[in-house]
Parts: sequence; structure tokens; C-alpha cells
Amino acid sequence: MLVLGIETSCDETAAAVVRDGRTILSDVVLSQVDIHKEYGGVVPELASRKHVEVISMVIQEALERAGVNPEELDGIGVTRGPGLIGALLVGISAAKSIAFALNKPLIGVNHLHGHLFAVFLERNDIQFPFIGLVVSGGHTSLYHVKGPLEIQLLGRTRDDAAGEAYDKVAKLLGLGYPGGVVIDGLSNGTDPGKLRFPRALMENDNLDFSFSGLKTAVLRQAEELYGQAGYKNLPGSFHPLPVPHKGSGVDSGVKLIAAAFQDAVTDVLTAKGLRAAEMYQADKLVICGGVAANRELRRKMNSEGIRRGIETVFPSPRLCTDNGAMIAARAASLLSLGMVDNLDFGAKSRW
Ligand code: KG4
Ligand code: ZN
Repeated sequence: MLVLGIETSCDETAAAVVRDGRTILSDVVLSQVDIHKEYGGVVPELASRKHVEVISMVIQEALERAGVNPEELDGIGVTRGPGLIGALLVGISAAKSIAFALNKPLIGVNHLHGHLFAVFLERNDIQFPFIGLVVSGGHTSLYHVKGPLEIQLLGRTRDDAAGEAYDKVAKLLGLGYPGGVVIDGLSNGTDPGKLRFPRALMENDNLDFSFSGLKTAVLRQAEELYGQAGYKNLPGSFHPLPVPHKGSGVDSGVKLIAAAFQDAVTDVLTAKGLRAAEMYQADKLVICGGVAANRELRRKMNSEGIRRGIETVFPSPRLCTDNGAMIAARAASLLSLGMVDNLDFGAKSRW
């Protein structure tokens, strides 16, 4: 079964061809990060325009690299939501056009289910049920994945997503965009225990997340640090701080803040992910989405997982961030169960 997967929910234009929901024949991802960098976050209108500009080329490239003729496809999967509405519509329109022109089945995919199904592209020993933690720039959600059609939401963030918190904290520390990779790098080898930030909603069986209090605590700490270094005190609003100068004492302070922030986020994600696995007696926890590329999260999950007898599974970093292959993998699972959509479905910004 050959499926073309198309993904345009945020700032990556992506297309891939996957065989039997398992084998990647091609995987083309065109990142817009350079466009959004100067704004410190994704600008929806710019994202949609860029998707329109490159979508045909990206799809064509995916088919060519796979050596697949469009007529050979068994189906077309596309991210239906959640995501930026204008961005989603570009991928959906392209997918519908191809499906209509070639008379092929069309499958609208939930982006978060796509992240979960990335795991099947690298591991053929993963059985249902398992616990899935999707942790990305837009989402922090825990699922009990009982089967391809039984994906039960157990908890999610009540405010910011974990990746969003990374991006906002990096911005306020003047570290650039996207923040996850920078903070991951800066924290490496830095003592996370010099500062202590709050861990929210840690009560016994709570599986929801909250990162906005943590973000505010980081802001207060940063204001203090920059104030001591001679910068004017900043208003309580969320302005980016000036880029630290070497030797001002600010750069090492920034590292301590970054490491302590990361320590708090990864503690919470590790505790709740493993707690869910224990509560639902699952022996596997799959962690996916952009933040799953984080080295400290991987380290903590793996060592704590071993201690508790739960296998923690991370797709490789390339499959953790947005891509078309995960959408094709999810679409293939739906297609094999006959779950095909009509051509008249719309985008869902929330799902
Ligand atoms: O899954 P993704 O590519 O897009 C969404 O669906 O949101 O995730 C992007 C997010 C960004 O917030 C980025 O800062 C974060 O993933 N991220 C990381 C790392 N790499 C990317 N966060 C922490 N550590 C990383 N190494
Ligand atoms: Zn994503």
C-alpha cells in the first residue's frame, strides 16, 4: 500500500511517500524557520503564503524521490487539523486536487495522531495498547492508544504547550527562535540545581499540564539577573530581554536559568508520562513531537523508565518534528480499515 502524506499545519511544508504505513520511500520537509525567526514565532499569514508557493514542488519532489508515479498511489493522507487554519487549507486543497484528479481515496489525519504513528516508521515491534505523549510547539497531550481507532485523550496542557514555553523562554532570554534547540544546547553541562522553578499540577493522579506559571517565574528571575547586570528593570510584560554580552555575568546567569527551566519541564513530562503508563498498566511510553528531540528529556525518561520497568520509546529527532511520513503512516492505518473521507471536509484549527 503506497500512501502520499501531506503536512502543512504550521511552519513546515512536508510531503512523503510511505509503503504499508511502515517504510519511508521519501520524506521531504521544507522548513520556514528562517522566515519566522525574525518575528520570534510563527506568523500565520506568512506561513500560509509560503505553503502556497512551495506545496506543489514539495509534493512532486516526494513522488520523484520515491520513484513513484502518482497513478500508483493507493491513497492520499493530509493533515486536517489541529493547526493554523490558513496553513492547513493549503495542504488540504492540494490533497483534494490530487485525490479528485486521480480518483484516489483521501484521508484527513489528526496531526497529533500523526505524531503518535511516527513510531511505526522505525519500530515494527510496537503493539497496542501503549501510552503516547505528544509534546510539541502547539501541544502537550497524553493518550492511551488502545488501537488504531481507540485513541483516548488522558490529559493535556491547560495553557502553554511545552515547546511554546521553550520558545517563549528563549525569546525573553534573548536566545533566538526556535528556542528548544538553543536551550537544549545551553543547558548541556550546566548545573540545573542552582535555581528551582515550579512544577505545576503534580498532585497524585493529575495528567494535565500547565507551563504558564513556570514561564512567569523564569521572567522574574531573568529580570532580576538583568537588573543586577545594570540593565533597566523590565516591565512585567513579555518583552524580549537584550542579548547578553560576554563577560557581563549575564551569559552564565542565562545558562543557569535555561538549565533550571529545562529541568522543571522535563521533570513534569517524565513524571506524568510514566504515571500515565503506570495508571493504565502499559509497558510502553511513546514520546513524540518536537520537544521529544530534547536530550535531557530522553535521558530522564530512559533512566526513570528503566527504574520503573516501562520502556520509553522515542522516534528519531527527524521524525519527532513535523513531517509528511507520520501523516502517511497514520493515513495508511485508517485506509487499511476503510476509513476514507469525502472530498468535502474542511480544516479543523482545533480538534
Ligand atoms: O512538532 P513540532 O515540529 O511542531 C509542532 O507541531 O508544534 O515541534 C516544534 C517545537 C518547538 O516549540 C521547538 O522549540 C521544540 O519543538 N523543540 C525542542 C527541541 N527541538 C525542537 N524543544 C526542546 N528541545 C529540543 N531539542
Ligand atoms: Zn507537530
